[in-house]
Amino acid sequence: MAKNDALGKAKEAKNDEFYTIYADIEKEMNAYLEYDENVFRNKTILLPCDDPEWSNFTRYFAQNFEKLGLKKLISTSYAVESKKYKVKDWQPTLFEQQAPWFDVDKSKIKGKIFTLDHDTNRNGRIDIEDLEWKYLDGDGDFRSEEIKRLRDEADFIITNPPFSLFREFVAWIMESGKKFAIIGNMNAITYKEIFPLLKKNDVWLGASIHSGDREFGVPKEYPLEAAGWRIDEKGNHFRLFINMCGWLRHPFLLTFA
Ligand SMILES: C[S@@+](CC[C@H](N)C(=O)[O-])C[C@H]1O[C@@H](n2cnc3c(N)ncnc32)[C@H](O)[C@@H]1O
Repeated sequence: MAKNDALGKAKEAKNDEFYTIYADIEKEMNAYLEYDENVFRNKTILLPCDDPEWSNFTRYFAQNFEKLGLKKLISTSYAVESKKYKVKDWQPTLFEQQAPWFDVDKSKIKGKIFTLDHDTNRNGRIDIEDLEWKYLDGDGDFRSEEIKRLRDEADFIITNPPFSLFREFVAWIMESGKKFAIIGNMNAITYKEIFPLLKKNDVWLGASIHSGDREFGVPKEYPLEAAGWRIDEKGNHFRLFINMCGWLRHPFLLTFA
């Protein structure tokens, strides 16, 4: 199998559904924290492509909310009907169905917003159990006015964005002037839209992974072939992507309060 074939296939299918593993997020954030333990203190973080039902970004920041001293966490998800990759037999999760405002039609076409900024269940700590959610007005497209407003409210934007829209996503971040750390395909650094940003020092490579093979979670129906794959004991599917993944970050992520 040729190098980058797995990525090529994902692109062909315009599949954006692959999910970052927790350890990769933790490793990068730990590198920032080692440099400045207060890097996220009193900050609002937006995760704009992240449904907490499967996003380890949301899990990481929600679980570490107090340790990082966050002011607010906002995580938005993209509506299932808007996604390019249609999950066969999609069902809303039990978590969603249990909410009094649950609406099956809205669940298909609306994005969701999850926020965390206080101890909602009054158990004395702020963590993932305190996430509150509602439907967005739109489908959660990062390019919508609704999500742009959230972007402009945030101090940091952190995620693994849809690779099929990577150029647009970087432009969307750059126009906001916000600090960011995002995962991208390392081929992206040669794109005519990205390379000049690196050259001008507007974008830096992240701290932990710059290249190499990375494992991502994938939907269960996603073909498990090519480079490498595994299914864990809970039935979650993972696939290896070759030379795919690295972090890009804002140059001042660590130096300005
Ligand atoms: C590469 S996945 C990563 C998901 C998550 N950030 C993670 O790392 O696990 C990108 C996600 O962005 C979603 N997405 C695709 N187009 C989008 C758009 N226009 N606006 C917001 N999200 C989008 C995809 O459905 C997919 O779930």
